[in-house]
Amino acid sequence: MKAIIANAYGEPDALEFGELPTPKVGPDQVLIEVRAAGVNPVDWKVLAGYLDPMMYAYFPLIPGWDVAGVITQLGLDVPEYQVGDEVMGYVRRDEVQHGTYAELVAAPVRTLARKPAALSWQQAGALPLAGLTAYQVLNRVGLSSGETVLIHAASGGVGSLAVQIAVARGARVIGTASERNHDFLRSLGAEPITYGDGLADRVRALAPEGIDAAADFVGSGVIELSQDLLRDRSRIASIADGSVGEKGGHQVWVRPSAVDLTALAELADAGKLTVPIDTALPLAQAAEALEVSKKGRSRGKIVLEVS
Ligand SMILES: NC(=O)c1ccc[n+]([C@@H]2O[C@H](COP(=O)([O-])OP(=O)(O)OC[C@H]3O[C@@H](n4cnc5c(N)ncnc54)[C@H](OP(=O)(O)O)[C@@H]3O)[C@@H](O)[C@H]2O)c1
Repeated sequence: MKAIIANAYGEPDALEFGELPTPKVGPDQVLIEVRAAGVNPVDWKVLAGYLDPMMYAYFPLIPGWDVAGVITQLGLDVPEYQVGDEVMGYVRRDEVQHGTYAELVAAPVRTLARKPAALSWQQAGALPLAGLTAYQVLNRVGLSSGETVLIHAASGGVGSLAVQIAVARGARVIGTASERNHDFLRSLGAEPITYGDGLADRVRALAPEGIDAAADFVGSGVIELSQDLLRDRSRIASIADGSVGEKGGHQVWVRPSAVDLTALAELADAGKLTVPIDTALPLAQAAEALEVSKKGRSRGKIVLEVS
């Protein structure tokens, strides 16, 4: 099969587009013919070796954890699915090697859910990691209907999904982004504000009574600022600021979950969740897609089209 291959830690321009053997399919796995593979910032961070202290990586390595495609083979014990089923998944294993930037991926069923009919292949391939992150963060801060949540980096891959999930829960959403993304945030149902100097005052102007929960999707030193706006200082979660735990909030590192991913699929099919695509490129141009991700300015998601 064709795949994107890294032979050592390094920059995206060192990636090769080549041939690797068809993956083995474990007893609780399915083989997926990949239609689209989402690109996430963690992909270039893995390639750069940033996760090496906590995850074993084996080379040659195929990057990527997000996938959508069609099942072409079942493992020995997979009553959940049939050949031909359309699925999506956040296929993160405990070690890094057999990723999703490839024509074929063997995925444990615990990482998968059925593809929502309402989403295109590109959108389904881009949803899992970022959607699960957004969903698990909002769960961790216990967001419920009628509450006000402050979302930092609301226009990015994770943020644009979190805004919609929070709105679907009946929450009021205040989201930070640069001016050029404010109309985009309004279209998702958020009240946009600019980040940077004076942010706390801008939030207070919109919500003088304070906020109920906060989600940090950027890690730019906004934990204490947010806690000063919160009625309960523990109701903040961050995916990008390691100091949040010692400050009394929650650190979240997204976990694969078939249950949570199915909940996201149901939101999509109910018309409450769409996946904004910033950039779509062919598999062979994965390095270019990773360079776009490294800039950290995408509006929604980046995705690779595979077949
Ligand atoms: N721990 C986990 O489980 C987990 C899971 C997913 C992601 N992450 C990490 O979380 C971060 C976000 O991921 P992502 O996929 O959403 O990234 P992304 O799509 O690359 O985020 C891009 C967005 O960030 C916004 N942004 C940049 N600087 C900002 C700032 N100072 N304040 C507010 N918004 C800002 C940009 O908006 P403007 O262009 O308007 O500035 C842009 O829309 C990455 O570092 C990623 O590695 C962690």
